Amino acid sequence: MTAESRSIEVTVNGRGRTIDVLAHHTLLEVLRDDLGLTGTKECCLVGECGACTVLVDDVSVDSCLMLGVEADGASITTVEGLAVGERLHPLQQAFLDTGAAQCGFCIPGQLVSAAALLAETPHPTRAEIEEGLAGNLCRCAGYEQIIEAVALAANRGTSAAVARPVPVGVDVASTPDANVAPQ
Ligand code: FES
Ligand code: FES
Repeated sequence: MTAESRSIEVTVNGRGRTIDVLAHHTLLEVLRDDLGLTGTKECCLVGECGACTVLVDDVSVDSCLMLGVEADGASITTVEGLAVGERLHPLQQAFLDTGAAQCGFCIPGQLVSAAALLAETPHPTRAEIEEGLAGNLCRCAGYEQIIEAVALAANRGTSAAVARPVPVGVDVASTPDANVAPQ
């Protein structure tokens, strides 16, 4: 540990991690650069696009706006934590079934925000879906299919367990990156 770094303890996708992070690094940098979880995307870096959305203690946050050291002690769920091994999360399956992913860049953030929404509101109205995903921009303008996918997952009975992390013991590093976006 250097003078500029701090050791933090976090649970990421169900797995406890102790890592040294640079004091000025964002949670997004910690996830992508220190932990290699590149499913969380880096885009605007000013809290406008939602590409970097993760759950911190079950609350969706823009990880580009939070310092890594601020996550000390928190439980974090990234898009890699939605699928369980080879089994896609119901939202991921619904996104595939509706063709919601075009270039795919925004999809990890959309999925995480949608998971947070369905955990809170298992059967959202269209207006509630729109509001729940309002912070996630899609430059391919695939909003209709994304809304349709979230509604489909809800109709299939996706429950409050949607935001569950990968069980402890699952090696995230060897878990396939289930998102469909480029790195
Ligand atoms: S990269 Fe964080 S909101 Fe755009
Ligand atoms: S699918 Fe391309 S930015 Fe959303």
